[in-house]
Amino acid sequence: MNLVFLGPPGSGKGTQAVRLAKNKGIVHLSTGDLLREAVKNGTELGKKADGYMKAGDLVPDSLIVGLIEDKIAAGDLKSGFILDGFPRTVPQAESLNEMLQKNEITLEKAVLIAVSDNEIVQRLSGRWFCPTCQVTYNYPANVPKNEGVCDHDGAKLVRRPDDEEKVVRNRLEVYKKQTQPIEDFYRNESILAEVKGEQTPDNVFKSILEVVG
Ligand code: AP5
Repeated sequence: MNLVFLGPPGSGKGTQAVRLAKNKGIVHLSTGDLLREAVKNGTELGKKADGYMKAGDLVPDSLIVGLIEDKIAAGDLKSGFILDGFPRTVPQAESLNEMLQKNEITLEKAVLIAVSDNEIVQRLSGRWFCPTCQVTYNYPANVPKNEGVCDHDGAKLVRRPDDEEKVVRNRLEVYKKQTQPIEDFYRNESILAEVKGEQTPDNVFKSILEVVG
């Protein structure tokens, strides 16, 4: 099963990708996670990406495409994958098609999780996560048992710097201008499947299972 997850920031791509990857035994690859790791480790890529991410802008295509190319070349995506946060521009989608074709891999579905702007701002302003195990919480929908600490390992929960409301609004604008055209790109390839993201996480998951089979 080879999938791309599309959707605005905070639509639940990460939440659902983790779950589906576990359910199907496939790889979940999030370019956002890879970039945050690079920033944390102070790598060259991280230094270049940091400013764009803090502002809620996209990192240049040239930096991102190479990351995915390396993963394909290393054979990491051979047994099935969910790409979460990639592609994010039409040139990225075109590069992905070329890389997959070269490696005789077929993209089966692009799953779009649709969520309204107001819901996104509300979700992201309530998002906290565990820096140790990466589990995500949300106030008031999914709160930890003990205030401010992770249920799994007791680590102190933190927020993402780009979840500040002003940055979230820019991320939404960027999504509409630069990422939304990909919906048509995959619609034209007849592999776009849309699910309603404003349901409980369990119901979103059920809807995704229905469209991916
Ligand atoms: P990235 O990390 O990809 O961020 P994003 O797409 O903006 O998405 P998020 O991770 O914020 O949200 P999500 O859809 O995964 O939702 P989640 O499941 O967490 O990218 C960050 C930055 O990196 C970009 O701005 C850019 O700078 C750079 N970047 C990354 N990839 C790039 C690329 N390809 N090209 C260029 N630049 C790139 O859920 C959100 C919250 O809602 C959580 O708190 C969750 O608990 C809650 N929630 C989830 N589902 C539900 C539900 N059904 N009901 C209620 N709450 C829910």
